[in-house]
Amino acid sequence: MGEIISILNQKGGCGKTTTAVNLSTALALFDKKVLLVDMDPQGNATTGFGVEKANLDYSIYSVLSREHDIADAILPTMVEGLYILPSNISLSGAEVELSREIGYHSILEEALKNVKELFDYIIVDVPPSLGILTLNALVASDSVIIPIQAEYYALEGMADLLKTMNLVEERLQSPSPIKGILMTLYDSRTRLGREVHQEVKKFFGDKEYIFKTTIPRNVRLAEAPSYGKPCILYDQESKGTISYIKLAEELLKMEDK
Ligand SMILES: Nc1ncnc2c1ncn2[C@@H]1O[C@H](COP(=O)(O)OP(=O)(O)OP(=O)(O)O)[C@@H](O)[C@H]1O
Ligand SMILES: [Mg+2]
Repeated sequence: MGEIISILNQKGGCGKTTTAVNLSTALALFDKKVLLVDMDPQGNATTGFGVEKANLDYSIYSVLSREHDIADAILPTMVEGLYILPSNISLSGAEVELSREIGYHSILEEALKNVKELFDYIIVDVPPSLGILTLNALVASDSVIIPIQAEYYALEGMADLLKTMNLVEERLQSPSPIKGILMTLYDSRTRLGREVHQEVKKFFGDKEYIFKTTIPRNVRLAEAPSYGKPCILYDQESKGTISYIKLAEELLKMEDK
C-alpha cells in the first residue's frame, strides 16, 4: 500500500516543489513506484517534468471535480517508475467549488484510494496556503515533510501550520505525523545558516525528527525546471542532486526500521 507524504509549508518559496520533484525522482531511481501529485494551481511540479500545463484536459482539477477518473489523469514521466498527476491554473477555481460540497476536505483522499495500492510512495506538492487544497492534502496524507528555508523568519507561520495539522487530527480524526523537517537552501558555512539550523532544532526539540540530510543552495536545482527535468537528470554530479539522493536514502532507511 502506497504511503502518502505531503510536502507542506504555507511559506512561499521554501523549496516544496523542488523537494517534491527531486525526492520523487530519487525514490523512483531506488526502484520504488512513485506518483507525484501536483496539488498547486501554479503547476510548478508539472512544468518541472516538461508537461505542457496550458491545455490539460485531464488534471488534478478534473479529478477533484469528478469529471475524470484518477487513473485516466495520471501521466508517465521520463523517469521509469515515476508518474505525475498534473495541475494548472484551473485548480484555483476548485477552492471555491469544492467548499460547497459536503466532505470537501476528503475529496483527494477518496480519489487516491483508487490508486494507492499501485504505488510505493505518493508525494503531494502542496501550494503555499492553508486553504482547502492544503486541507485535502493533509487529510489524504499518512505523513508530512516540512521544508524550512534557512533564512531569518524561517519559523514564521510555523505555529499556524502546526495548529492546522492539530485541527485536522482532532476534528477530522486524520493525523499526519511529521516524517521530518528538512533544512533547504542551507549553507552550513554561513553564520546565518548555522543559526537558523540551531533555532529550528530548539523549536522542535526532541518532539520531531529533523533530517540529517540538508539541501544546499545550488544553482543547478534552480536551473533544472527550465529544461523540464528534475535536477537529478539535469546534472547528476551537482550538489543538489547528491543531496536529494541522500534524502531519499535517509527516508528509505527510516522505513526499514
Ligand atoms: N536548494 C535550492 N538551491 C537553489 N535554488 C532553489 C533551491 N530550492 C529551491 N530553489 C529555487 O527557489 C525557488 C522556490 O523554490 P520552490 O519552487 O521549490 O519553492 P516552493 O516552496 O515550492 O514555492 P511555492 O511556495 O511558490 O510553491 C525556485 O525558483 C527554485 O528553483
Ligand atoms: Mg511550489
